[in-house]
Amino acid sequence: MNNKATLNINNKVHDLDLITGSENEVALDISKLRLDANLITIDAGFKNTGSCQSAITFLDGEKGILRYRGYSIEELANKADFLEVAYLLIFGELPTKQQLEKLSDDIKERSIIDEDLRIILNSYPKSAHPMGILSSLTSGLVAFDPSAVDIDDDEDMYDAILNLLAKIPVLVAWVYRRRKGLPLEYGDTSLGYVENIAKMMFQRPNKEYIQNQTVVSALNKLLILHADHEQNCSTSTVRIVGSSYAGLFASVSAGISALWGRLHGGANQAVIEMLEAINEDGGDTKKYMSKAKDKSDPFRLMGFGHRVYKNFDPRAKIIKVAADEVLKNLGIDDPILDIAKGLEKEALEDQYFVDRKLYPNVDFYSGIIYKALDIPAEMFTVMFALGRLPGWVAHWREMRLRKEPIGRPRQVYIGENLRSFSDINSR
Ligand code: CMC
Repeated sequence: MNNKATLNINNKVHDLDLITGSENEVALDISKLRLDANLITIDAGFKNTGSCQSAITFLDGEKGILRYRGYSIEELANKADFLEVAYLLIFGELPTKQQLEKLSDDIKERSIIDEDLRIILNSYPKSAHPMGILSSLTSGLVAFDPSAVDIDDDEDMYDAILNLLAKIPVLVAWVYRRRKGLPLEYGDTSLGYVENIAKMMFQRPNKEYIQNQTVVSALNKLLILHADHEQNCSTSTVRIVGSSYAGLFASVSAGISALWGRLHGGANQAVIEMLEAINEDGGDTKKYMSKAKDKSDPFRLMGFGHRVYKNFDPRAKIIKVAADEVLKNLGIDDPILDIAKGLEKEALEDQYFVDRKLYPNVDFYSGIIYKALDIPAEMFTVMFALGRLPGWVAHWREMRLRKEPIGRPRQVYIGENLRSFSDINSR
C-alpha cells in the first residue's frame, strides 16, 4: 500500500503520511496539518482519532477480537492468573516462574499502608460512594510518598508500580469494610493475589475465613477480562494526566474518577440496578425495550452498546458462560439472570438494536456474578478499577517511556467575537 495520502484543499494539495500498525490498521498522520495548511481536524468524543501508538492491547471491534500483547482474551481468561496478566500488560511478556514469584513477594513486601490513611478513610461518611473514596485515597497515597518516579531508573519505576499494585487492593478492601462497619484488616501474605483480595474483603472478625475456589476463580476471570481495553475513557485520562508529568498515583486516581461514570465502568452498577428494577416491576422486558428505543425517554439499556465493538464484545461472551457456572456452583437461582438473558434475546432480534449494532458489553453480565459473590452493587465499579489497574499502569509507563508530548487538544471556537466591556451600571 502507498504510504502517502493527499488532501486537496481549495486546489492546494497536501501530502499526509499513512501509518500502518502491526495488524494492518492504517492511520492518517495529521500532526503537521496545522503547520502546512493552517487546519485542524475536529472529532467530538475522539470517535475517529488515534491519540497514540501503543503495543499493549489490540482490539478489532468489527470482528470482536481482543488481545493483550498478542494473547487472545479467551486464552488468558481460561488459563492465566491475574498477576501473570498484570505482568504481561505492564512489562510486555509473560513472566517466568521466578519472575512471577519475585513479583508476588515484592507486592506482599509493599502492601502495608500508613496508619494515618485510616484516619482519612474514617472521616468519610459511611454512605459516600466507594469510587469517590478510592480515587481520593489513591491520590492521598502520594502525600505519604511524595518522591517523583525517575522514569529512566528501572528500579524506581518498578518500585512505584509495585507499590500501587500492592496498596490498591488493601484500599479497596478497606473502603468496602468501612462501608459495612467491619474492622480494617490486612490480608494474608501466604495467599495468592486474588485469594488475598477475597479474604481481605470477606473475612469476618469472629469467624475463620474459608476460601471458596468458585469465588476465587470467578474473581480471577473478571479481573483479567477488565485488565485493559486500549484507549478507553479512563485509560486515556491516565495517559493525558500523566503526560503533564503528574505522577503515577495521581494519574491513576484521575483514571478511577473517569471510570466512575455510568457510560463507562459505572455501567455495571447501573445494569444490576436496571435488572432489579425490571424484576420489581414484574419482569416486563418489552416495556423496557420500548423505553430504550424511545428517543424522548432518557432510559438506555445499560450494558448494551460500545464505542468500539460493533459485534459481540468477546468479554461479554466469556462472562455470560461464567455467570451460569458461578450461579450453578454456588447454588443460586437469581431471577435477574433470566431477565438479562431475555433482554439480550429480544435486543438481538430487534431492528433498532440490529441497525445500530448494539450488543451486550462487558458490564451486562458481570454484575450478576459480583452479586452472586456477595459484592454490593456500589462496589462493582471498584472491582472494575481493581482489574483495570495493570492496564492503567501499563499505559502510563508506555506513555512516559515513549516520551509522548503533553496531551493538549485544540478546538474550533464558536463563541462571541471581540466586543467592548460595558460598565455594570450600563448593562
Ligand atoms: N440503549 C439504547 N440505545 C443506545 C444504547 C443503549 N444502551 N447505546 C447506544 N444507543 C443508540 C444511541 O441512542 C444512538 O442512536 P441514534 O443513532 O438513533 O442517535 C446510537 O445507538 C449510537 O449511540 P452513541 O451514544 O452515539 O454511541 P457511542 O459510541 O457514543 O456510545 C456507549 C457508546 C457505550 C456510551 C453507549 O452505547 C451507551 O450509552 N451504552 C450504555 C452504557 C454502557 O453499557 N456503558 C458501558 C460500556 S462498556 C464498558 C466500559 O467502557 O467501561
